[in-house]
Amino acid sequence: MTTRWLGVMLLSMTIATVAAHGSVTKAEFGKTSDGTAIEIYTLKSDAVEARVMTYGARVVSIKTADKNGNVADVVLGYDSFAGYLADGKTYFGAIVGRYGNRIAKGEFVLDGKTYQVPKNNDGNSLHGGTVGFDKLVWKAREVAEGVEMTLVSKDGDQGYPGTLTAHVRYTLHHNALRIDYSMTTDKDTVVNLTNHSYFNLGGVGSGTILGEEMMLAADKYTPTDKGLIPTGELASVEGTPMDFRKATVIGKRINDNFEALKLAGGYDHNWVLRGANGEIKTAARVHDPVSGRVMTVTTTEPGVQFYTGNFLDGTFHGPGGVVYAKNTGLCLETQHYPDSPNHPSFPTTELKPGQTRHSMTTFTFSADK
Ligand code: BGC
Repeated sequence: MTTRWLGVMLLSMTIATVAAHGSVTKAEFGKTSDGTAIEIYTLKSDAVEARVMTYGARVVSIKTADKNGNVADVVLGYDSFAGYLADGKTYFGAIVGRYGNRIAKGEFVLDGKTYQVPKNNDGNSLHGGTVGFDKLVWKAREVAEGVEMTLVSKDGDQGYPGTLTAHVRYTLHHNALRIDYSMTTDKDTVVNLTNHSYFNLGGVGSGTILGEEMMLAADKYTPTDKGLIPTGELASVEGTPMDFRKATVIGKRINDNFEALKLAGGYDHNWVLRGANGEIKTAARVHDPVSGRVMTVTTTEPGVQFYTGNFLDGTFHGPGGVVYAKNTGLCLETQHYPDSPNHPSFPTTELKPGQTRHSMTTFTFSADK
């Protein structure tokens, strides 16, 4: 056989493998009150099935196998679009923005001008305001192994300056769901996008996440005041219940008499990731000893908000009536630090015309035998 033919054969085998691995399909998931159709995309690989929809560019489900090969959905969500419309509180699966997490008093100064954005959380602004990116309908287009969602947020949207164009691309690569973000603006602005999925590696409805073990690749975190606004300090995790440098059971210290935990009713803080802003690094690893499922998170972002679903209070119910009670899901929101526009010492969230901000996060799933 000539080398040329061998090359052609190898190439076609590669293409066949790729084709066998990935598929992307699209369907309608529902309609908003003004009649806008919401599309849902199903991404399938040999290891994971992930569904994402155009409302809030949200992850709706991620199905993957446990150590015995049993497949379950590992993110909290609803089986119908009506569930998402009825829930204005949890941000299940959403891309949050224009500014993920909090801005103190909804106020910041940019280029000498003071901007006011909605105070929708105890006098502070949370997740972009009253109508954040989680409640808007994004435009979708299929791409290789996934879907790209696009949102154009107009100059003045929720009080933020500049027309911001955001592209969020979800792609599935074997057992990894990858999220690529890119953002541009036509005026100076601030931006901080993240994904707000709540994971439960035991599967939705399996109880709380308090028995899962987690490692966070962080030596410091950003302590807050009682409104969960960073004080500006980067505090060492050493000798505190915030220390997850070695994998630790999440529930082990959650009720400790430690101010940060008491203020938030559990974990709801930003950890300062080791490694440079913009470089890909491991952020977290979560392991559920019961199902054996493991999730590893990598990111280019400088921080991660680890949130133990403290405000889930049983109001909302998922597929089959499962009650979303306190601690039934955990979020690992890769991000710039909360309230960065008011903390010049934090990595900047400013974006200027002519710049493109890129960021990338992966969630990789496996199971130990
Ligand atoms: C915040 C929590 C907030 C939650 C809303 C998290 O990112 O840190 O304080 O309650 O989002 O679901």
